[in-house]
Amino acid sequence: MSTKTIQNLQINQDRLWDSLMEMAKIGATEKGGCARLALTDLDKQGRDLFVQWCKEAGCTITVDRMGNIFARRPGRNNDLPPVVTGSHLDTQPTGGKFDGVFGVLAGLEVIRTLNDYKFETEAPIEVSVWTNEEGSRFAPAMIASGVFGGVFTEEYGHSRADLDGKTIGEELKRIGYFGDAPVGGRPFKAFFEAHIEQGPILEAEDKIIGVVQGIQGIKWFEVTLTGQDCHAGTTPMNRRKDAMLAAARMVDLVNKIALDHLPGVGTVGLMTVHPNSRNVIPGKVFFTVDLRHPYDEELEKMKAALDAGAAKICGNLDVEYDLQEIWNSPAIHYDPACIDAVRKAADEAGLPNRDIVSGAGHDAGYIARVAPVGMIFVPCAEGISHNEIESALPEDLAAGCNVLMRAMVELAA
Ligand code: GLV
Ligand code: MN
Ligand code: MN
Ligand code: MN
Repeated sequence: MSTKTIQNLQINQDRLWDSLMEMAKIGATEKGGCARLALTDLDKQGRDLFVQWCKEAGCTITVDRMGNIFARRPGRNNDLPPVVTGSHLDTQPTGGKFDGVFGVLAGLEVIRTLNDYKFETEAPIEVSVWTNEEGSRFAPAMIASGVFGGVFTEEYGHSRADLDGKTIGEELKRIGYFGDAPVGGRPFKAFFEAHIEQGPILEAEDKIIGVVQGIQGIKWFEVTLTGQDCHAGTTPMNRRKDAMLAAARMVDLVNKIALDHLPGVGTVGLMTVHPNSRNVIPGKVFFTVDLRHPYDEELEKMKAALDAGAAKICGNLDVEYDLQEIWNSPAIHYDPACIDAVRKAADEAGLPNRDIVSGAGHDAGYIARVAPVGMIFVPCAEGISHNEIESALPEDLAAGCNVLMRAMVELAA
């Protein structure tokens, strides 16, 4: 193709969509979603397909010691730090076809498009896949980008275990993605992540591009309540140490804490009950708490309310409790120049856009510790995500991918 200016570059919407649908076959669920949990055989299949596609596009592949994958398209000057994009291929147990995957395959589509146009960039371009973004199988979320960003040590990353006791290190070796490249320690000129919004704002306002300013603060807790297993028929109500009742009151507490700190949010998403038998008063309950707020001071107040509420509820019910904060990800603010590059790319492409703060966590948040970062959101239907029915329009995904390409090319030009 002839005129090699950024304005003339257009990604291939059908190819992007077909790749998304092809990847979605790996771990496809009956309701049209995806279950491709981190470091399972299905995750390996997804990774293998991505690597194959990148090699076909002429990229070289590097895998680091956390299993993060980098596919590189050379620039004219390969001594320059690369402009990098990417996201994750792992999903929630009842995940959709777009969360994470879009950001990975949008990156690949940028490279395929630059190849079509024989468009050279000065700096190299890379597409990355980050291990265990979701935090569903292994907590916390975004462990591997966190190691890359210097927030966690490699030992901590490798040692995190799932509910069956299998660790990230073991599972990386088992599926053949324990690479030998060091994790991090090399500069990126810039990092961009394209993602579906996973919320309702863009759709409600008829905007096609969200110019992401940063991510709200997130804290994760693990709570173990210990009462006493006892007979459900013979134990009078005033002699019980019912861990489940304490858990129920704490679920309500989490909800109230969020409502008292709006726009904060609070969720209990995982619970295990022991012995989980219908005629035994539960003696042990384990559950998780996810608290988020755009302002760190407010998030600290939410944590204090959780501490105080737990003490009160468990004291009243004669139940012991152990409450651990296992993850603190303070609010993140992206790089002004990267934010501007995204806004400019959207404006030049004539796409209605607005500034937006991410409610969800993203690998880009930890990369922002070591590189200038920007993010691009596109709408998803009714804002539904972490659900098999998650959906997005091919033309919106293509628009997001075009903005990604323009922003990347501008920084790598
Ligand atoms: C990751 O998906 C999160 O925001 O919890
Ligand atoms: Mn995601
Ligand atoms: Mn997700
Ligand atoms: Mn996420």
